[in-house]
Amino acid sequence: MTCSTMPAFNQRIEQALSARKQQGLQRKLHQIEGGNARELHSAGQRYVNFSSNDYLGLATDKQLTSAWQQGLDKYGNGSGASPLVTGFSPAHAELEQTLCDWLGFERAILFGSGFSANQALLFALLEKQDLLLQDKLNHASLIEAGMLSPATMKRFRHNDIEHLEKLLEPSSLVVTEGVFSMDGDLSLLAEIASKVQPESWLAVDDAHGIGVLGPKGAGSCARAGVVPDVLIVTFGKGFGLSGAAIMCSKALGDYLTQFARHHVYSTAMPPAQAFALNKAAHMIQQQEWRREKLAELSDYYDRLLSDCPEYRYTPTAIKPFVVGESDAANDYSQYLKRQGIWASAIRPPTVAPGSARLRVTLTASHTMHDVELLANQLKRLSQEIG
Ligand SMILES: Cc1ncc(COP(=O)(O)O)c(C=O)c1O
Repeated sequence: MTCSTMPAFNQRIEQALSARKQQGLQRKLHQIEGGNARELHSAGQRYVNFSSNDYLGLATDKQLTSAWQQGLDKYGNGSGASPLVTGFSPAHAELEQTLCDWLGFERAILFGSGFSANQALLFALLEKQDLLLQDKLNHASLIEAGMLSPATMKRFRHNDIEHLEKLLEPSSLVVTEGVFSMDGDLSLLAEIASKVQPESWLAVDDAHGIGVLGPKGAGSCARAGVVPDVLIVTFGKGFGLSGAAIMCSKALGDYLTQFARHHVYSTAMPPAQAFALNKAAHMIQQQEWRREKLAELSDYYDRLLSDCPEYRYTPTAIKPFVVGESDAANDYSQYLKRQGIWASAIRPPTVAPGSARLRVTLTASHTMHDVELLANQLKRLSQEIG
């Protein structure tokens, strides 16, 4: 390291931070007290929470908390090692088996997060001669992994099958989300699968669909009647916990066990967490009422707001309220906070310039009254914008 390296880093950091601030795009951490529940407590204030991904209301569910406590009693605190050393327990094995039985795959490989699962898959699988095709709106973890992988990556226009077909070559890897995280719309999975398989592989990241859509909550692919070659499910949203799994064939599972660096060189999730996740997977399959309640709330939201120009229809619990400029999104989010509603502003670069929004999410813990309260305030904002 030369003497000039340090000042260069300092300067770069200062410039980047002040540019962010000037663009009004600065991000901030907020402390959420007492859990990410329907009612949020932060800095001494109470809010109705419309910003969590806890779609099924499991993040603070007492039955699930007690499963985690049982897991702690049984296995202690941490896993103590990576899976291939001594970090893999019967709780991990049972979780893998539950996921395979439920989702219809031969193997499940567990990861500490969806971000690392996505990176592990693309880094382990792709070589220089490969073509990777991704929907333009795929999550940052996928796009970044694609850019850093040795393969050629091309992005097809969002849900544009013709564009995908034009780019497609035999033996490509096509990656899409099941539910798009910022827009709440669905991938056209059946059409995509019919173009892609069997000559190429289809991988679906169903972070926002698993647990929420499809029969028994089996997700976007089950809903569309599609069996992807690889399915990524994450546990930080519908499962109310955290972590992820890559669902795949025995052969790919064996390959990832050998070559997925985020699996081989990373501490396994705590066995108590795997134990709790197994419980969550069963609750999700059995407790249909959570999906029914979400559908009712979603219908009500749609009915109340469909006249607002900022409203976008979605068949999911993610409801973007698109206001355009970042400052406006910030102002509206602050206005809602003063009314006791937490709906975070999502701005570029997370979404395209000019499409800053309030990303409203509904969960099975909300009430009809909550939705009404939110809709009334959003309507008032809409009139103000108009
Ligand atoms: C589509 C999608 N994939 C992957 C991830 C990353 O998952 P995790 O939060 O478990 O790292 C997210 C968001 O968090 C996501 O929205």
